[in-house]
Amino acid sequence: MTSNNPQTREWQALSSDYHLAPFSDFKQLKEKGPRIITHAKGVYLWDSEGNKILDGMAGLWCVAVGYGRDELADAASKQMRELPYYNLFFQTAHPPVLELAKVIADVAPEGMNHVFFTGSGSEGNDTMLRMVRHYWAIKGQPKKKVIISRKNGYHGSTVAGASLGGMTYMHEQGDLPIPGIVHIAQPYWFGEGGDMTPDEFGIWAANQLEEKILEVGVDNVGAFIAEPIQGAGGVIIPPDTYWPRIKEILAKYDILFVADEVICGFGRTGEWFGSDFYDLKPHMMTIAKGLTSGYIPMGGLIVHDDVVEVLNEGGDFNHGFTYSGHPVAAAVALENIRILRDEKIVERVRTETAPYLQKRLRELSDHPLVGEVRGVGLLGAIELVQDKATRKRYEGKGVGMICRTFCFENGLIMRAVGDTMIIAPPLVITPAEIDELVTKARKCLDLTLSALQG
Ligand SMILES: Cc1ncc(COP(=O)(O)O)c(C=O)c1O
Repeated sequence: MTSNNPQTREWQALSSDYHLAPFSDFKQLKEKGPRIITHAKGVYLWDSEGNKILDGMAGLWCVAVGYGRDELADAASKQMRELPYYNLFFQTAHPPVLELAKVIADVAPEGMNHVFFTGSGSEGNDTMLRMVRHYWAIKGQPKKKVIISRKNGYHGSTVAGASLGGMTYMHEQGDLPIPGIVHIAQPYWFGEGGDMTPDEFGIWAANQLEEKILEVGVDNVGAFIAEPIQGAGGVIIPPDTYWPRIKEILAKYDILFVADEVICGFGRTGEWFGSDFYDLKPHMMTIAKGLTSGYIPMGGLIVHDDVVEVLNEGGDFNHGFTYSGHPVAAAVALENIRILRDEKIVERVRTETAPYLQKRLRELSDHPLVGEVRGVGLLGAIELVQDKATRKRYEGKGVGMICRTFCFENGLIMRAVGDTMIIAPPLVITPAEIDELVTKARKCLDLTLSALQG
């Protein structure tokens, strides 16, 4: 703990004495103390040292409409006074959740007209797993239980979510994955494409799905789950050939397709959903994050009419959460979607800010440390390498973490996934703020290169 500010030190002491933080090394956090974020407005955060930081990650990919929107606070406050809580179990409902389900159906792809609400994306994926198996059991095919997922995909941190995800460092803790979940290769050309062209590699990676279906047996496979663009895995944009081939394979075999839209949903690609962007036509879509812009926890599963028709014949679905469709979260989500629609934020991403961000980000390709810049919508990745031509990394140097630290120190949040720097700013970011983001990113790349050479 190095702060000269007594208030910061006091908060860090509370962290050290009482708090266990997610995805953190507890001992290291105890020794160093966390950065304390005290308030935020628009795309900016302030920490307890008074530093102003451009949040290039929209929190955890969630603050779509930016920080400090009074309308969302007012919607929560109004709903809290009217009906702060009631559950949806045993054939009960309340107005905000019903209105929200309708509004989500309005913006979702055709046929995606029913929503099961949860408290998070992880719970959405747990719900998916149980719903898929319930669906096949109703159809008289109870053996169709296996869910195929992808290595390095991220689907949450509950036992089912982490099992569906392909993060080996998560599997190592807690004896995961649970049975009935298998993984195939990811479409990560830069990291794993070898000598193949991106298009060849896209076909190869998609064909892994067919091989796995045949290995497990079509009669045993219930669903395939994938993020339209892998986020936490490093903003992995599949080659152009990937999704069309995946769609062909899914059409050939009788398997449900689940798009995990927790990051891509609600405008991040410049379309309402990543499934619109890639024309995926899934049977289910997991949602969270941008649904409430992160102002309050809420997730869910959007389910296609064809699936619901079967579920309707299955009696009770014995699944749900105390906070499924929480009225305050629903009121905030309604207001959040109203803002996204009325202010034409998704359209602005598509026509203005995404093209601008992608153009400006690609200017960083000339930097000696940068092996590739890629992105879609307001998602971006910068690959840090030792050798641009061979895509060789700086082994064992932790270059991503070095760069991330320089970013923090220079007023920018970029996340490091290994040696891949990633960004996903709030959807309301302006061209001037994009300029600031790219200028700061270049400065931090320079500082990282100097550190490596020095
Ligand atoms: C694609 C994806 N799915 C699921 C989740 C899990 O969501 P939550 O953290 O709300 O449980 C995340 C979180 O980052 C995610 O990125």
